[in-house]
Amino acid sequence: MTVVQLTDVTKRYQSGEGTIEALSGVDFHADRGEMVTVIGPSGSGKSTMLNVIGLLDTPTEGTVQLKGTDVTAFTEDELTEERRSVIGFVFQDFHLLPMLTATENVELPSMWDTGVDRRDRAVDLLRRVGLGDRLEHTPDELSGGQRQRVAIARALINEPDIVLADEPTGNLDRDTGETILEELTALKTNEDVAIVAVTHDDQLVAYTDRVVELVDGEVSA
Ligand SMILES: Nc1ncnc2c1ncn2[C@@H]1O[C@H](COP(=O)(O)OP(=O)(O)OP(=O)(O)O)[C@@H](O)[C@H]1O
Ligand SMILES: [Mg+2]
Repeated sequence: MTVVQLTDVTKRYQSGEGTIEALSGVDFHADRGEMVTVIGPSGSGKSTMLNVIGLLDTPTEGTVQLKGTDVTAFTEDELTEERRSVIGFVFQDFHLLPMLTATENVELPSMWDTGVDRRDRAVDLLRRVGLGDRLEHTPDELSGGQRQRVAIARALINEPDIVLADEPTGNLDRDTGETILEELTALKTNEDVAIVAVTHDDQLVAYTDRVVELVDGEVSA
């Protein structure tokens, strides 16, 4: 089942030097249970594409569908609700709050949700990524790989259909990167989510089901 579909998406930015076309007529989809990696040179539009998929940015032209629903004309409130319920983000620099423990960081995206026991779910997710013995540690008491695993656990707290990751192994040594990739692979299979990752890292490409290459804002054939 297709979770996200971009159809003929063009994104233009206006700046001092004129108009920049960051994405040009991009078609893209990601299905449940697969990991898709987006590669391409610096400036080719990878982050822009991830932002459009994650509903953090809207296309200038073209459509975005989430689980079969066209969200292109959604209001900001509706987009926020879709983001919360469908999408999990793993940012390159983790975006963990330094004053909060690992458990509190994982709970954070679910604060609006009063109907579930968030603490239990956060603890369960941290155990699953191998951090059951680091629940009360703050980010500065964790290694880079452990922080990345907290970020992955946090991305899962709202049971997303798709996880978006910008350079998930970017700041990690090779062994730690390997562990993170094994976790993402397990996640894809066990939770039946789609994973879309942006990377420069060949190690990550080896773990993916499909590679999409961007060149100058276009998907290269
Ligand atoms: N907010 C913005 N305003 C103006 N131009 C932008 C904006 N965001 C991105 N761009 C331009 O759009 C193009 C694509 O940028 P993008 O960040 O998507 O590239 P990227 O493939 O992620 O590059 P990198 O590998 O260096 O992260 C670049 O030419 C960039 O300068
Ligand atoms: Mg980028």
